[in-house]
Amino acid sequence: MTNSLTLRRPDDWHLHLRDGEMLAAVAAYSGHFGRAIIMPNLVPPVVTGAQAAAYRDRILAALPPEVTLRPLMTIYLTETTDPADLIAAHRDGIISAVKLYPAGATTNSASGVRDFDKVRPVLEAMAEAGIPLCTHGEVTDPAVDIFDREAVFIDKVLDPIRRATPGLRVVMEHITTSDGVDYVSANQNIGATITTHHLVINRNHILVGGIKPHYYCLPVAKRESHRLALRRAATSGDQRFFLGTDSAPHPDRAKESACGCAGCFTAPNTMSILAQVFEEDGALDRLEGFTSLNGPAFYGLPANEDMIRLVKRDTPATYPTHIPAGDETVTVFDPGFPLYWHVEDPA
Ligand code: DOR
Ligand code: ZN
Repeated sequence: MTNSLTLRRPDDWHLHLRDGEMLAAVAAYSGHFGRAIIMPNLVPPVVTGAQAAAYRDRILAALPPEVTLRPLMTIYLTETTDPADLIAAHRDGIISAVKLYPAGATTNSASGVRDFDKVRPVLEAMAEAGIPLCTHGEVTDPAVDIFDREAVFIDKVLDPIRRATPGLRVVMEHITTSDGVDYVSANQNIGATITTHHLVINRNHILVGGIKPHYYCLPVAKRESHRLALRRAATSGDQRFFLGTDSAPHPDRAKESACGCAGCFTAPNTMSILAQVFEEDGALDRLEGFTSLNGPAFYGLPANEDMIRLVKRDTPATYPTHIPAGDETVTVFDPGFPLYWHVEDPA
């Protein structure tokens, strides 16, 4: 039985670090990762190259000196985004991707896109410059059931965009359905991130026996057959699927509320959970592809040079249940099972 594993240092291709006191509280918990694609949904959002550069500097200032995480910045696409600003920010190495939020789809998405025709020229320019588009793949039409919003997004938004702009490289972020898996598997020039929590929970975890706000995120976890499709995709070795934790801290007060925010804070224990998941599925030999190789290949970057080690011990790894963030606390994602894989960094 394998009880030790050395991997190229993993990357997180979808991460929320927030700003201010929350940034200071959470940044170091992503310290095992080499690079992370940083989401731009601050209040107000990061909509220009200059704002992305300033946010990157705030992140670097918030990281403890021993942490080598490199933030890869994104710009939040709006209907008034200036293509020239995006292209310049990408050319100057300030941004690695652009994020599309359909307006109203999730946390701080009010400035997102309502009319996709309005961003067509920007998408054309991105295709030409080779800038990837990261998509929050849910429609916001109130008539569409929340559990169907990803599947409808593929048909009504994603596929038309990709047909209209064939050279555009797209990441379908945090896929939650077999529809997402099937669409990505059947196409080229597209990848998908999968979160740690969507490999572990289905919608029963949120709703059975009382509402569990710390399992609520967007896209919301779906039925078990979809979770199993995600597990198969993540452990398949298919290069189009890679880790994006979508670790999304919120103050407990904001989650444990009559109108609780979406987001699971998985940064601290993600690698331990993933090792357990891949072991359960007999795919430990594919963990490195998912966490450390497939993402860089999609983004056209080299894999990290250095390594981390995962060791399986008889006693579970301990993680805090909550962390402090200013006057608030943030609950760490509870996978619901003990975590025997410990992360040793450096390897
Ligand atoms: O659960 C989520 N939380 N999904 C998102 O798309 C946004 C994120 C957040 O920013 O909290
Ligand atoms: Zn996110």
